Amino acid sequence: MAFSEDFLQELASRNDIVDVVGSYVHLTKRSGSNLFGLCPFHSEKTPSFSVAPDKQIYHCFGCGKGGSVISFIMEIENLSFPDAVAFLARRAGMPMPEEEQDTASKKRARMLALNREAARFFHAALKEPSGQPAREYLARRQLTGKTVTNFGLGFAPDTWDSLTRAMKGLGYTEQELFDAGLVRHGKKGGVYDTFRNRLMFPVIDVRGNVIGFSGRILGDGEPKYMNSPETLVFSKSHNLFALNLAKKSKAGYILLAEGNVDVASLHQAGFDSAVASLGTSLTPEQARLLSRYTSEIVIAYDSDGAGQKASQRAIGLLEKLDLRVRVLRMEGAKDPDEYLKRFGADAFRNLLEASENHIDFRLASIRQKYDLAVDEQKVAFLREACDMVAALPDKIKREVYAMRLSETTGISVDAVKDQIAQIRKRKLRAAERQERRDQSRPVLQQQKRTGIRYDNPRSAAAEEGVVRLLCQEPELFQRIEPPDAEWFSSPELKHLYALLLDCMQRGAPVSLAAMSEQLSPEEMNLLTGVIQESDDSSQRSKALADYIQIIRDEAFRRTNEDLREAARLYKKRKAYGDKV
Ligand code: CTP
Ligand code: MN
Repeated sequence: MAFSEDFLQELASRNDIVDVVGSYVHLTKRSGSNLFGLCPFHSEKTPSFSVAPDKQIYHCFGCGKGGSVISFIMEIENLSFPDAVAFLARRAGMPMPEEEQDTASKKRARMLALNREAARFFHAALKEPSGQPAREYLARRQLTGKTVTNFGLGFAPDTWDSLTRAMKGLGYTEQELFDAGLVRHGKKGGVYDTFRNRLMFPVIDVRGNVIGFSGRILGDGEPKYMNSPETLVFSKSHNLFALNLAKKSKAGYILLAEGNVDVASLHQAGFDSAVASLGTSLTPEQARLLSRYTSEIVIAYDSDGAGQKASQRAIGLLEKLDLRVRVLRMEGAKDPDEYLKRFGADAFRNLLEASENHIDFRLASIRQKYDLAVDEQKVAFLREACDMVAALPDKIKREVYAMRLSETTGISVDAVKDQIAQIRKRKLRAAERQERRDQSRPVLQQQKRTGIRYDNPRSAAAEEGVVRLLCQEPELFQRIEPPDAEWFSSPELKHLYALLLDCMQRGAPVSLAAMSEQLSPEEMNLLTGVIQESDDSSQRSKALADYIQIIRDEAFRRTNEDLREAARLYKKRKAYGDKV
């Protein structure tokens, strides 16, 4: 283990979770001691993200994410454990224990240097005689030499080992190449180049580091793209292709497209604020990243069904961050690249100017589904449209769109407004109910969120209780014989319990922050889900006794069943005259 528990404990105590989380999430106080806000890790309209100052943990009742102040920083800043620790140490003005800082950052720096060398290698290969097919492909896609330079495009030669040999020549090991995702292990041992015979797009972060690659096949074939795997320096969900260029644009907005090729074409045509989301649909982390560089996004996804669906999802995420969102509506072309080729840059600029704000966009998509000349359909249209408008947080916007709907349908403004108000009331009530349900527990909810299934829910509920009490009042366990971890029915809870018990018995702090490094994110989520609840403090000792009783009973019952089963088998075999 790299950091001492005492250091981590000190770190956590100097970085109050309320302050740290509060600088990312707007938190408000409600009932009890917990604070609530909109979850930064999933899209939601009513706050289900809670922070417990007394326990120094966060927990989302919606998506199940949770943990200590360290896990929060890991998740939201996309940092490794040591980097998150360094981040918080800096924040609190604490000196880092030296050694760890060195090894972690050295490894990162070396991987970045390797990626840069690889990018250089690919770029140079494009100009070699063997780069001919790639140059032809670029020409076919009408991508110019200037674009190649601007994006640092390259070519991965059609061989199994040219990158490997070149990088080894520069002193990098196979292990380092493997860790960076540039080679794969062959069946017979040895390694081979991951990217072969592909047009290479380096992915460069906002600091100018080459963090990964995206390789397109030259022409048709599968898979169309190959991407670097997740590495120490690369996470697809936390980065955007070409943001390094777009952040320098003077456009005042960022254009969000689907494909790397679209982005290259857009920049080439003068739309230098285009980015793409690396083949995933926009993630909350990418949305947050965008919000650091702009306050306005224009979505230019593909015009097919999938693209439109992805637009809707992106709108939800971006809107939450108070970004102005417009949606481009392309007709006569499937994506920006094709649009530019077919109609030219001026036509695209017109499209940009005409692009609708996202509410108009969504209303228009609803509108398309109905024939307003038919009364029944008009009613159905109004119902769906009002439903959407009712969800808008801004009252003035609800008014404006009520008027718009009244014009479109010929129904009086008052009737439309009434309808919207009614739906809104219903929605708010439903959200409150849902929240109460979510908070009133139990194990089942937990299972749903963490994806962990309990084989024995009765025992698991008691096991959760023991884990919770061990975190909340470790002293209780010094007065009794702690239950045996082997009695636990859930492997996940057993592992958590064993770790916590070990901490307590060594006299180490029983704190989530101190254990951050030893827990997987799933375990962290499970643990915070468990301890965000409270047992009645006057009854804890009794509760603990009850929990232990249940766990022991269930364990004995299982053992007995196993014994009976073994006895049955034994009898059966004897009956057949087998040797046992
Ligand atoms: N993508 C991927 N893996 C695939 C297909 C696509 O990672 N098998 C990602 C790539 O980042 C790609 C984006 O999804 O850029 C959009 O896909 P697509 O529209 O198919 O690619 P384009 O880059 O637009 O390429 P083209 O214009 O040649 O179709
Ligand atoms: Mn495309």
